[in-house]
Amino acid sequence: VPVNPLRPAILAVAGSERVKRTLTTSPATAAMVQRFVPGEARPDLIAAARTLLMSGRAVSVDYLGENTTDRAQADAAVAEYLALINDLAALPTTEVPAGAAPLEVSVKLSALGQALGADGPAIATENLRTVCTKAAEAGVWVTVDAEDHTTTAATLAVTGQVRPDFPWLGTVIQAYLYRSEDDCRDLADAGARVRLCKGAYREPETVAYQRRVDVDRAYLRCLRVLMRGAGRPLVASHDPVVLAAAADLATITGRRPGRLEYQMLYGIRTDEQLHLADRGDFVRVYLPYGHQWYGYLMRRLAERPANLAFFLRALAGR
Ligand code: FDA
Repeated sequence: VPVNPLRPAILAVAGSERVKRTLTTSPATAAMVQRFVPGEARPDLIAAARTLLMSGRAVSVDYLGENTTDRAQADAAVAEYLALINDLAALPTTEVPAGAAPLEVSVKLSALGQALGADGPAIATENLRTVCTKAAEAGVWVTVDAEDHTTTAATLAVTGQVRPDFPWLGTVIQAYLYRSEDDCRDLADAGARVRLCKGAYREPETVAYQRRVDVDRAYLRCLRVLMRGAGRPLVASHDPVVLAAAADLATITGRRPGRLEYQMLYGIRTDEQLHLADRGDFVRVYLPYGHQWYGYLMRRLAERPANLAFFLRALAGR
């Protein structure tokens, strides 16, 4: 059984401007967009972050943008991240376990210029350093998102280069890639913070598992490696099987909340987020904002038929 039979079709329209326009012109679908993305502007985001922090959850804020094709756009993304870090650092936060930080930003190297020709990786690395330097001053952490498989090796190389100066720099591993168990081993040995997710892009079978059952098994293999390693596993999933496995492994390996994070997306399984936080676990919510929300939204719809049904009902005005 594939992950979701409609997933390839949805991901195929993920670049369509026409579909994006349709979504914003209907109030019903605009409300649906807001379920996953609290707003386009920073003040909307800051209001949502404040509410999450006051409920005892940590945040990782993503300024939406990817596939940047010119230098000015990459510079604008860096400027937005610097302003965002400033605004986040001014928010009141609740107490967190030793060794954890309640505030984090998530960045995509493609938004920082990774695809700008031969100099792209160097530009993105420099931009990442600028963001990390500001974040360090403000007491905010940074994690670099994982994008499609053509960027995996370059992204791991960049984070590996920058991490010695910013030990809290997080890296994302996508369990659906065949290479990921080995990558987890390397990162666990290096003591890195690793966000483990299943993977959200449309990938060929030459590089990635296609069947849900294989992706799920790969996730659990990677999770065992990370939980037994020296780093800090960031369990990014809404899957009850994954959450239960992480809790069992935490007991077996003696990991306390400061050395393990549960991470979920804004608007998804909010009750479970609050339940985990109430029982004393460290929960971080991935909070996206910005006008480039379309690709992000399409990946959310592709993940889950129920999200898609919700979307189609909203589109039909019911
Ligand atoms: P999956 O979608 O397989 O669902 C499994 C089960 O979870 C379902 O059967 C259901 O029980 C439950 N569930 C899921 N959604 C639900 C809902 N809406 N309501 C109720 N129950 C629900 N991807 C990527 O490629 N690069 C990245 O950098 C990131 N970053 C990232 C950060 C964070 C914090 C998260 C949580 C996720 C990502 N992802 C990501 C996305 C990730 O790869 C993946 O696509 C989604 O998290 C969906 O996979 P799940 O593990 O949640 O389970």
